[in-house]
Amino acid sequence: MSKYTANNIFNDKISVYVTECLSTNDFLTNLLKRNKINEGTSVRTDYQIKGKGQRDNKWLSEKNSNILFSFLLSPKIKVENQFYLHIVISIAIVKCLKKIGIDCKIKWPNDIYIGEKKIAGILIESFIFQRKVQNSVVGIGLNLNQKRFEGLNATSVYKETLKEFDKIKVIENLKDLISQEYNNLHKIFDKKIIEYRKLLYGLYEMKRFKIGSEIVKAKIIDISVNGELVLNINNKQKSFSHGSLSLLTD
Ligand code: BTN
Repeated sequence: MSKYTANNIFNDKISVYVTECLSTNDFLTNLLKRNKINEGTSVRTDYQIKGKGQRDNKWLSEKNSNILFSFLLSPKIKVENQFYLHIVISIAIVKCLKKIGIDCKIKWPNDIYIGEKKIAGILIESFIFQRKVQNSVVGIGLNLNQKRFEGLNATSVYKETLKEFDKIKVIENLKDLISQEYNNLHKIFDKKIIEYRKLLYGLYEMKRFKIGSEIVKAKIIDISVNGELVLNINNKQKSFSHGSLSLLTD
């Protein structure tokens, strides 16, 4: 079972299991489009009829043998920083395999390799709004117990260790590591924001702002982790993204 640690993004979130589906990424994307689902919602299956790889490739995986798992992240990071997501997920997979006793490498941008053979792949499909990554459907295909790969340059945990592993236990372990790495991603931004906040012009002061065609007096109270300016306007807290208002200095 997953360790019930605070800040684990998968704690108390919906975790769907289906015996088969077209693609767990598509399944989760459909859930996201139809419902309000939270970060950490996940889907796993034993077989994908139309598994997707990067660059429109297919992801082929023997029935019941491997990990086919997708989950939702809502990082709200700038588009320019989205590569950090690839970094944290790749690192989490490498750490998970390390716990099993396997040393692997990340082949840029986010394929996991042992020697010259691929053991896991990641497909991140992001939804961008206002130049920020609002939601990302992250799909992981990890070859676990598959014994043969006809014509594929691939390997599995079984082939490397000659042992079979329990899919659910490995997924729970992955969830913990993903959560830890992902929270670190926010820490990197938090650190920078603390530094930035210390240098912020007008912090805790009343200033005049132009919002649309209106001139408004407000107190600057914070910078959010997403880089939004947080103001107190008439005792109400409101956040503004870059470009949606200007601070008047005259
Ligand atoms: C790649 O290396 O090309 C990425 C492969 C990603 C495969 C996973 S399996 C779970 C999720 N659902 C999909 O259809 N693809 C991803």
